[in-house]
Amino acid sequence: MRAKVNIDIANTEKLVGKGVKDSKKTMSQLIGVFKDEEAFKAADQDQVVYEVQAYMPVEEGKKGGLFWGNSMVYPGKVGTEYHMTRGHFHSNLDTGEYYWCLKGEGALIMMDLDRNCWYEEMKPGTLHYIPGNVSHRVANTGYEPLFFNACWPSDAGHDYASIEKEGFAARLFEVDGKPQLIKE
Ligand code: 6PG
Ligand code: NI
Repeated sequence: MRAKVNIDIANTEKLVGKGVKDSKKTMSQLIGVFKDEEAFKAADQDQVVYEVQAYMPVEEGKKGGLFWGNSMVYPGKVGTEYHMTRGHFHSNLDTGEYYWCLKGEGALIMMDLDRNCWYEEMKPGTLHYIPGNVSHRVANTGYEPLFFNACWPSDAGHDYASIEKEGFAARLFEVDGKPQLIKE
């Protein structure tokens, strides 16, 4: 059984200092991410879909360090597909990562190099190990903002290009009020 842990989000603020990178992704920056192009065009392009605050105490690409991210995905859907992050493989393909859900409801969608896709339900206190060679993205399946933390090696890097080109082999839609992973 998984332990249920409540942590105070403010605890992570002590990590804030040197090497902090804030980024926000608005709908307009997520062209091609969602399946329903008409619904995407009709959506408010200025709305923020997700935010990441990354704490990078060593130079990016340097081996041996660890980075920490505070991520938040706003609730909503494009058509029936949940708001989600772009998703990526790490450039150093075999590097893993931990995700830790603080607040909200979501799904960590993963895909291996053979394009097998699966997901893990995220709720407050769930810890998720993302193995190396596995691409990862997070969808908000609830009605409140979804907060999660991430911890990854400082030399992992991000490969967004392969997901932009090939996409994930499955997508998470709301079907009869519930998330369902549907193959492309
Ligand atoms: C990482 C993490 C994580 C991720 C964000 C936003 O490797 O940096 O997986 O911090 O970057 O949740 O997702 P995208 O990077 O896919 O936009
Ligand atoms: Ni990652």
